[in-house]
Amino acid sequence: MSDLMEMLKRRGFLWSSFEIYGGSAGFFDYGPLGAMMKRNLEELWRYYFVIKEGMYEIDSPTIGLEDVFVASGHVKEFVDVLIECSKCGAVYRADHYIEERAKISVDPVPEEIQKALNEHAVTCECGGTFSHPVEFNLMFKTAIGPGSRKTGYLRPETAQGMFVNFPRLLKFFRNKLPFGVVQIGRAYRNEISPRQGVIRLREFNQAEAEVFVHPAEKKHPGFDSIRDEKLLLVTKFDEEITLTAGEAVEKGIIAHEMLGYFIVLTKQFLVNAGVDEERLRFRQHRDDERAHYATDCWDAEAKTSYGWIEIVGIADRTDYDLKKHMEHSQKDLTIFIQYEKPMKVRRKKIIPKMNIIGPQFKDKVREIVKALENYEFNGKVSINIGGEKITLSEDMYEIKEVEEEITGERIIPHVIEPSFGIDRIFYTILEHSFDEDEVDGEKRNVLHLPGYVAPIQVGVLPLLSKKELMDVAKDINTNLRINGILAEIDESGSIGRRYRRFDEIGTPFCVTVDYDTLRNNTVTIRERDTTRQIRVPVDDLVVDLKELLSLKPEKAFEELGEIVR
Ligand code: ATP
Ligand code: GLY
Repeated sequence: MSDLMEMLKRRGFLWSSFEIYGGSAGFFDYGPLGAMMKRNLEELWRYYFVIKEGMYEIDSPTIGLEDVFVASGHVKEFVDVLIECSKCGAVYRADHYIEERAKISVDPVPEEIQKALNEHAVTCECGGTFSHPVEFNLMFKTAIGPGSRKTGYLRPETAQGMFVNFPRLLKFFRNKLPFGVVQIGRAYRNEISPRQGVIRLREFNQAEAEVFVHPAEKKHPGFDSIRDEKLLLVTKFDEEITLTAGEAVEKGIIAHEMLGYFIVLTKQFLVNAGVDEERLRFRQHRDDERAHYATDCWDAEAKTSYGWIEIVGIADRTDYDLKKHMEHSQKDLTIFIQYEKPMKVRRKKIIPKMNIIGPQFKDKVREIVKALENYEFNGKVSINIGGEKITLSEDMYEIKEVEEEITGERIIPHVIEPSFGIDRIFYTILEHSFDEDEVDGEKRNVLHLPGYVAPIQVGVLPLLSKKELMDVAKDINTNLRINGILAEIDESGSIGRRYRRFDEIGTPFCVTVDYDTLRNNTVTIRERDTTRQIRVPVDDLVVDLKELLSLKPEKAFEELGEIVR
């Protein structure tokens, strides 16, 4: 893919960051065209998740308090295992290195890595041997404020910002499940040895949705509309199978409808963004591979020159995160679910003996009594009062069986999470749309990008670099831009060369101003993929181009004007 990478650099899509200082692995800049295309891609994602699905977007800090990541498990568990060559000092992510060299997959824990190094005699590229494997936390640590008194971490996923805001979000959504929240933004991981361009970055872009659902209602009202969508699946037993979403859920391969729905939505987004359907599959995580918070997880994987790479992860995170944040923050992150009809239940009620707890707990007594009102007896009585754990001994209470009418229950919602890596998707689209073909006997590079993803949507070309043609081209260009179409004029070089320059950056349409334009106020529109041209009135340009650039055009190119070439 060196031709593609060369073009991406030359034409202003992507390049290594800090180039004038020699660069640094794992950091890439989006140039002018790249940044534009990335924004279009994010807008398309917003269309699917915010506009179509009805979720709301939030924007939280990219630095998080240590407490957040202690609670989420990242401080303890967000680790990879590294190995270091004792001869040349090269450092590698152990599981990836062993997979590459010995062609085996290995559990990313130090003992298993050591075993694999020994059994398969894996050595460094320089011939040296490796030191003992060690765990390395991938989060970037930082100090908040002067004096370094507070530790913070750059967020390794945008998700936590949505979990810690749960109480406010719940109010926003009027205390009703299900609801979905999304966030698009930077995430940071101090990857051990990032070597694959934008596939493995230390600072990257995620678009994540957290859908909060009732644990017993993992269904989606739109499932029937997508149940017949075919999916190429690789199950956790490594079996490749093509099934409809409906079949996969019925057979229990995909855990439930909600997950099935988001797998299909992911596919629709990716394919419409320009990922080749033939090089897209959904792979289920093996039981030993799943993240610490997930029960079922599917990766959308795309085939690229780097092999099959994960571009999206779709996980059922259960109540893991909310439960952990509730434990650590001592805040209530539950929701009250009202039953349709009140229910009578018998339960064991704790009746405190006031004459004993009164003198002992003094000013805390009121809070203790309140906490005991709905306490679920489980053999002992242990409650949390203002962060302090208080255990009552048996002489401090009585247990009474009571019949009560209850109107509902408090539950911790579960979370279904589609997590998109924008950079990996961006690169996949470029690889899948990159082509070299021949037009009029000349080789051309072309990106077959969808119009709504392409960084420049319309090229405006005066046939010759003459003032009278240039003036009209400028007016057209301005008018297209005012109307929200990303147009650009190019007047230098032969018309064929200019078409090829636009083809190379994926511009789907070129408008050419010629002498007929001056006579009858019409122009040609050239279609990048077929190079066909139609003639249309200048006055129709905005409407016609908007139609052609839309996600679901109602008219085909040839229906908009007479084909002239
Ligand atoms: P991998 O196994 O490749 O390290 P992951 O399983 O750690 O990926 P997730 O934690 O599921 O990835 O992250 C969600 C999404 O974020 C991924 O599907 C991917 O597209 C993206 N992503 C994760 N890490 C990186 C990275 N270092 N650089 C670019 N994108 C990333
Ligand atoms: N939010 C999923 C991940 O980044 O791992």
